[in-house]
This record gives sequence, structure tokens and C-alpha cells, in this order.
Amino acid sequence: MTVPPPPAGRVLVDRTLPDTEATEALGRQLGGLLRAGDLLVLTGPLGAGKTTFTRGLGAALHVRGQVASPTFVLARTHPSEQGPPLVHVDAYRLGGADELDDLDLDYAGSVVVVEWGAGLLDGVAESWLDVVIERPTGAGDASAVDRDRDPDDVPDEPRRVTVTAHGPRWAGVEVTTG
Ligand SMILES: Nc1ncnc2c1ncn2[C@@H]1O[C@H](COP(=O)(O)OP(=O)(O)O)[C@@H](O)[C@H]1O
Ligand SMILES: [Mg+2]
Repeated sequence: MTVPPPPAGRVLVDRTLPDTEATEALGRQLGGLLRAGDLLVLTGPLGAGKTTFTRGLGAALHVRGQVASPTFVLARTHPSEQGPPLVHVDAYRLGGADELDDLDLDYAGSVVVVEWGAGLLDGVAESWLDVVIERPTGAGDASAVDRDRDPDDVPDEPRRVTVTAHGPRWAGVEVTTG
């Protein structure tokens, strides 16, 4: 017997974001909806804007500390001044779901955001948001850009962002075009 595919989910957002600020603003908008127990999985190539988006989430959640690429740490917890902490995970260097599990993250008590987490979180949560950020075709991958250049000095160009909701947590939740 074959296992049925997971439910396809419901598209909450499908937008073209012209610049860095727009991507961060979408993070702030979605961040306003979040509460402890929420999980977001971010997918997109290097330089797509996953961390930029997470910075917006952090602003909406009033977290302390700069949200940055957690290059040398796998997970960074940002306490909030008034709500749940934001746990920012970069799964790029993780060997797999087992290593993610070893981090022993407090999913129930935090908002957890996992960059490069696609496929690693099966069974972890009943509900989650899949955030997919695509660079325009032909723009190339930021990793292919001159290594001597400041990685944070990428010119603004549009991104296509889709947010797909899975599970009962998101039933009836709508995101208005802002
Ligand atoms: N529309 C856009 N949305 C997000 N970032 C953009 C956009 N246009 C250019 N950028 C730049 O691309 C880079 C994205 O970096 P980052 O958010 O760290 O990506 P990732 O975490 O996906 O590797 C930043 O330097 C940002 O200023
Ligand atoms: Mg990143």
C-alpha cells in the first residue's frame, strides 16, 4: 500500500516583493499573526531573502538581539520583550532530521523558523507554514556572485514569495495584501 501524499496546504500569500524592505515587511506582517507553537519552514537558494524575512518576523515579535544568518550556530534563540521567543535555525549544515531533533528545540513555547528545513520537519508539528522565496530566473545564485563582495550588498531585485499553510492552526486565517 502506498502512503498518501501530505495535504497540499492552502496558499496564504503569493506575491512579488520588489526589494529587501518589502520582504522584511512581509515578515513583519506575518509575524503579527504568530504565537508560541508556530513553525515556519523557509525554502529558497542562498541570498533569496530567508534571513531578511526572518528579521521582519523578529521585529514583529519584539525580539532582542539582531536577527542575522546563524552561520556558526545552528540555532539562535531571541528572547522577546513581550511574547514568545523566536528560535532561528539554519539547517543548511545539519546532516538530517536526527540532528535537528538533537537540538531539542522548544517548539511548543517558541516561534520556530527553520531556514533550509524542507523535508526535515515531517511529523514534528501538526501545523506549519511553508515559505518559499524564489529569485527571478536568470539572476543566478548569490553563491555564484564574486566571493570578495559583501554578501549583504546584493542589489535589490524582485522575489516571488509563496506562503502555504498546513494544518488546523491556520484554518480560517487569511493574510491581506498589504
Ligand atoms: N526583494 C528582495 N528581498 C529580499 N532580499 C533582497 C531582495 N533584493 C535583494 N535582496 C538582498 O538579497 C540578500 C538576501 O540575503 P539573506 O536574507 O541573508 O538570504 P538567505 O537567508 O536566503 O540566504 C540581502 O543582501 C538583501 O538585501
Ligand atoms: Mg540565511
